[in-house]
Amino acid sequence: MNEPTIEDYYSEDRKFAPSADFVAQALTADQSLYEEAAADRLAFWARQARELVTWFEDFDTVLEWELPFAKWFVGGKLNMSYNCLDRHVEAGKGDRVAFHWEGEPGDTRTITYADLLDEVSRFANVLKDLGVHKGDRVCIYMPMIPELPVAMLACSRIGAPHSIVFGGFSSDALADRINDAEAKVLITSDGGYRRGDPFALKGTADTAVAATDSIEHVVVVQRTGQDVAWNDVDVWWHDLMADASPDCPPESLDSEDLLYLLYTSGTTAKPKGIMHTTGGYLTQVAFTHKYVFDLHPDDDVYWCAADIGWVTGHSYIVYGPLANGCTSVMYEGTPDTPRPEHREGDRASWPKDRLWDIIERYGVTQLYTAPTAIRTFMKWGAQEVEPHDLSSLKVLGTVGEPINPEAWMWYHTYIGGETCPIVDTWWQTETGGHMITPMPGVTTTKPGSAVGAIPGVDIEVVDDAGNPIERGGGYLTISEPWPAMLRGIWGDPERYKETYWSTYEGRYFAGDGAKIDDEGYLWLLGRVDDVMNVSGHRISTTEIESALVDHPSVAEAAVVGATDATTGQAIVGYVILRGGNEASAELAEEIRGHVATKLGAIARPRAVFLVPDLPKTRSGKIMRRLLRDVAEGRNLGDTTTLADASVVDEIRDRAAEAPQED
Ligand code: PRX
Repeated sequence: MNEPTIEDYYSEDRKFAPSADFVAQALTADQSLYEEAAADRLAFWARQARELVTWFEDFDTVLEWELPFAKWFVGGKLNMSYNCLDRHVEAGKGDRVAFHWEGEPGDTRTITYADLLDEVSRFANVLKDLGVHKGDRVCIYMPMIPELPVAMLACSRIGAPHSIVFGGFSSDALADRINDAEAKVLITSDGGYRRGDPFALKGTADTAVAATDSIEHVVVVQRTGQDVAWNDVDVWWHDLMADASPDCPPESLDSEDLLYLLYTSGTTAKPKGIMHTTGGYLTQVAFTHKYVFDLHPDDDVYWCAADIGWVTGHSYIVYGPLANGCTSVMYEGTPDTPRPEHREGDRASWPKDRLWDIIERYGVTQLYTAPTAIRTFMKWGAQEVEPHDLSSLKVLGTVGEPINPEAWMWYHTYIGGETCPIVDTWWQTETGGHMITPMPGVTTTKPGSAVGAIPGVDIEVVDDAGNPIERGGGYLTISEPWPAMLRGIWGDPERYKETYWSTYEGRYFAGDGAKIDDEGYLWLLGRVDDVMNVSGHRISTTEIESALVDHPSVAEAAVVGATDATTGQAIVGYVILRGGNEASAELAEEIRGHVATKLGAIARPRAVFLVPDLPKTRSGKIMRRLLRDVAEGRNLGDTTTLADASVVDEIRDRAAEAPQED
């Protein structure tokens, strides 16, 4: 066997099998899907495509593969919005609720499939009247309001790819994305509600539009009623919708027609426009949404608490759930903003229980959220959860980063009532849908492990030379094309090849480290640039973070490898304490020792800084680059994508005061 390339210091012995009750009602509870896919992967995906998707014309070829360019379900004709709306209404389910939408101020809308079809058809006609044709790009910059999925589905109805830019991005970021895609129309709103107050969006959109040439019209939804400047290109959503016909037959589109672009960061400053097409993407998101969440659409109330501005929202708030005809919750605001009737005194004394309140009121059955959110809930404490009846929950999901075992256990205990299977889903903007995850009725899970690939997806962990390894650590690769895979980077096929297909020949390189434990369970170790090399040992930041968070006083932790003359890199930890703990040199020392106890002396951090907060992007990812700069005493680079730039100053001050080991 090969020497492991990433050493493994963490071992997790706890295991959780699905309960007998869960297994009895599960859609799949044995190995049959895995066996079917292993026997004939393409036949497996073809069956899913024909069962889960309605085609106007059947496909003739399952896959055309000219590495690295894939075409799935070639010759097939379909329409995404038809699959998400019309076919459910035609099947007599028009009265089923598609979205229980809740605004942050407590206003609600109940939107049935028939309502959604009506609005989508009308807005599709609006787009046509504005001169949008098949293939034209439409940029969307909106808060979490129902008009956002309406706009997406209307685009898909007429074959105009959308490019959604998360509402927290700056005008520069928006302008860059509009320009790269040469979008013809921008859809935005006056603003939205967040953290108890209205925020403005239209002004930022105006600044961006002034820096672009391609936008012909800006459609503005009125959400808050705040004053907005008005330009020649601007039109109100409600004015256009008032006169629009609800009759708009869906276009018959090719399986490989572009469905959307979604920009994501790479290693250079220029964001990459990830391209997703129609038939393969729809098949994989519908399949995974159904089986990974054990969806029973007649009974369930599913909730993905992400923002539609990220891929998680595209695939698992809009396209997967609607294709499967299920009822979802959609929420506009933040989890620490209660309904107005529960806001007494200053903000600090408000309850932080909005999510639990929503789950209880709507009887949510599946909750899908991110580890960073779970750690925040831990920090707020179980007393926020305990007053609420969460017994409707059946399956819990996580996505976005490795989940440390302690956060997994907290989720399991306090949210899942020790009965809900947890699906830790690994995937990327580029993969379009889930790739690695437990199946809730099948898999015995271990806290912190995403376990293994879904049926029909082939992954391999490889060593430095690109050779697959059976056990130990290495680099995560995908060895066969999959239906929802990105079809390229908009306008830059060379960058597509170079970024994903050049590191290991014939393989998609995900950029993540992974290890396979002695029982064959897969553990994600974070981005490879987050893997440290200390005295020739490769250690994952994630493992150290797990060990730090395992200490009873620690709420959240981030670890970076700082350059060190002797050891190559040295481990530096930044720690937020749980409420009720005083920061002190003794406590920092105790926490360093705790890591050494959990993982071994090699993993003892050179320094642990006790800090009030961590620098995060607006999407909640910790900005390790800034922490590395602080650890190495460098001047800070670009901090414009930070949610709160003052955090870094505080951290730098604390780091300057704290003792460090030589
Ligand atoms: O490093 C992996 C991490 O998030 C990256 C993809 O980020 P993005 O394209 O923004 O998509 C996030 C939502 C799908 C991956 O390369 N990641 C995502 N899910 C997990 C994860 N790391 C560990 N475990 C996960 N479940």
